[in-house]
This record gives sequence, C-alpha cells and structure tokens, in this order.
Amino acid sequence: MTSDLSTSADASTPPVFVTGSAGHVGANLVRRLLKDGTRIRVLLRNEDNNRALEGLEVERVFGDIRDLNAMRRAVAGCQGVYHVAAMISTIEGNRAYRRKVYECNVLGTRNVLQAAREAQAGRVVVTGSFSAVGYNLDNPSAPSDETMQFYPMERTMPYERSKALVEHECWRAVAQGQDVIVATCCAVIGGADYFPSRLGRTLCDYTGGKLRAYVDGGFEFVAARDIVEGHLLCMHRGRSGEKYIFSSEYKTISEILDLFEEVSGVPRPARRIPSHMMLAFSEVASFYLSRFHPDFPQRFTPGAIRLLKKCRHADTGKARSELGFQPTSIRAAVHEAYAFHYYQRNVITNPLAKRPSESAVRQAESSLANQGIPVSPGGGSM
Ligand SMILES: NC(=O)c1ccc[n+]([C@@H]2O[C@H](COP(=O)([O-])OP(=O)(O)OC[C@H]3O[C@@H](n4cnc5c(N)ncnc54)[C@H](OP(=O)(O)O)[C@@H]3O)[C@@H](O)[C@H]2O)c1
Repeated sequence: MTSDLSTSADASTPPVFVTGSAGHVGANLVRRLLKDGTRIRVLLRNEDNNRALEGLEVERVFGDIRDLNAMRRAVAGCQGVYHVAAMISTIEGNRAYRRKVYECNVLGTRNVLQAAREAQAGRVVVTGSFSAVGYNLDNPSAPSDETMQFYPMERTMPYERSKALVEHECWRAVAQGQDVIVATCCAVIGGADYFPSRLGRTLCDYTGGKLRAYVDGGFEFVAARDIVEGHLLCMHRGRSGEKYIFSSEYKTISEILDLFEEVSGVPRPARRIPSHMMLAFSEVASFYLSRFHPDFPQRFTPGAIRLLKKCRHADTGKARSELGFQPTSIRAAVHEAYAFHYYQRNVITNPLAKRPSESAVRQAESSLANQGIPVSPGGGSM
C-alpha cells in the first residue's frame, strides 16, 4: 500500500499539514492527497489508534491541538492546512466531558489557526458540521444553505454548539486577514474507517444482528470520497472566508437500513419505534450514562434522535455552482464501507452475512482504488 500511494509525492514542495488524519475523514483525505502526489505532514496523538496511517509514507508529528506550542512546531514549514480533527460526540456528557469537547474543538481550532497564521502556512480548510448550520424554524426539513445561522435557543448538543463556535474562530481569523474556508460535512459513510465511525459501527452491529428496531427520521449523508473532494475543492477553488456544504444525499434511517440489507443480505429489522417514544427512553438512559459512564458508547442518544426527527435537508447549490462539486451516491458509499469492514477489518462474522457481491466489490474496488485503497476480496489484506 505504501509505495502505491507515495511514489509521486514531490519532495521539493513544502508539505500540507493535516490534523485528525487517523480518523474517518482524515484517513480518506490523506489517501487521496498521497494519490495526487501531495507531500503530507500529519498530526497524530502518540497514545491513540493510528492504524489508519500504518504503512503510509507521510511525515508524522505528534501533539494535541489543545497545545499551542505543539501546533507551532507541527505546522512550521507547511503550505496549506486541513484542520479535520475534532472530538465528535452526540452525548451531553458530564462537566469534564463538555469541557473537553470545548477545548478540543473550539480552543484546538483557535490554536491551529493561530499557529498557521504565525507560520504563514497559507490557506486553512477547516472541517465544519451540518449540525452547526441553521434551519428554517417553522419547517426544519426545508433545505438549509450556508446563509442560515446556527440557532442557539433550543436544546442542542455540546458538540453542535462547539462546532458553531469553531466557525466563529474561523471568521475571527478571517477578520485578521487569514485565508480560511469551512468545508461543512454531513454524516460520513465509506471506507478507510479504522476506528470505526458511528455509522460504520452501526453497519457492523447490524450485520451481527444487534439492531432489532429502528427510529423514524433522516439526515444528510456524505460519501467519504465526496467530503474529501469537497475539502480539495475548497483548498483549490474556494473563496476565502466562505463556507460550503458538502452532502451526497438525504436518506431516511429506513432507507439506510434497506441499503444495509442489500449489501449484507441480513434482513433488516421491521420494528419501527416512533421517535417520541425512543426519545423518552433515551433521555433516561443517557442521563445516567452521560453522568456516570460518559465513555460508554450510546447508539440512539437524545441529541441524535432530536437531530433525526428534524429530517434536515441540505442545499448544496453553492458548492455545486461555485466549486463544481458533483456528489456521488450513498448506495456506493455503503458498499464501500461494507467491503472495508468485511475485508480490511474482518469484523463481519455473521455466517448469514454475504460476501460483498462481485459487482459491489468491483464498484468498491474502483472507487477505493481511486482513493488509493487496494481491495483484495477474501484476503483481509485490502
Ligand atoms: N463523521 C461524521 O459523520 C461527521 C459529521 C459532521 C462533521 N464531521 C467533522 O469531520 C471532522 C472529522 O470527523 P471524523 O469523522 O473523521 O472523526 P473521527 O474519526 O472521530 O476522527 C477525529 C480525529 O480528530 C483527532 N482529534 C480529536 N481531538 C484531538 C486533539 N485534541 N488533538 C489532536 N487530534 C485530535 C482524533 O485523534 P485521535 O485518533 O488521537 O483521537 C481523530 O484522529 C470533524 O471535524 C467533525 O466535526 C464529521
């Protein structure tokens, strides 16, 4: 995998700096940049799961975005920054947890921007979140565009508030003359999902028969390769000081389960739990878990259910018309994700779960190969 991805990197140009490179978006972004022949310096945390970077020829620096001096050392000599790192969460958490979300996301972004500014590292593309984009209060499912401001007057998750404040940090930096663009991301699905992500974990749990019911609602989903493309478009064609929303498609949870059934052959759950009932149940469970076991994985948190209930749609017109963004499909992204978890992570163990179909593998192969991720069916050595 190493040589395929790294041979064309030009050693004479300064590296591009990428934070969050071990995560889902970052791992896909790094592969695409390597494939394009870009020299990369990645920020990692020593003690964490950095499998996504194994075997890749990238320059590694270690540090935490909460540490300004570490960011100054990390970005020195780079030209171009993708600030992808963030602490993703859909729980309320206890006081210490919420403080960590704030410090990683808001202060961390402030540090990365300041360090990049001091180092004259050029354009910074910051990954934003669709949950920090506002919506029509009278009709939440009407498409939201970049002009709609985050609405802070209702119950929101600490993560959502933090991502809204991340944008404030960006616009403050722009006001100081810095070249910053926000690439707004929706719920990501796709390959190179090493942690795995929330959706990737749900797909694996689904194939293991652990998903017995589902809730109403839907959201905007983005294929990993589309959000990567969006970041590159921002870097090369975006207007400084602007925000662009990148999404592939709106899907209901029921439609996502149809796709899970299609890729895995495991029948989808028929039982639908109305979101108001699920919300009541999850409020109780989450109240206890958030306070006493904040690191316990919760699937349907009140915050996530509230978000799904709104059935929010995205208007990607600005990214399409200004940047030429052309999203692909969530169906293909689910096939890629399944092939990745099946062959690379070897976690699809249910004997009822089918091998990714030939056409699905071919489809995944071509798009994974486009990202520099080789697929070898049956081998586990993708
Ligand atoms: N995934 C989605 O569905 C989604 C939706 C909307 C927006 N986004 C945005 O997309 C971006 C990437 O998300 P993702 O899905 O790739 O997340 P992810 O898989 O959880 O990866 C997050 C990365 O950020 C790093 N990070 C977190 N806190 C850090 C800190 N204090 N110092 C250094 N690194 C830190 C993590 O490093 P460690 O490995 O060391 O923990 C990890 O590599 C985020 O900005 C997120 O807000 C994602």
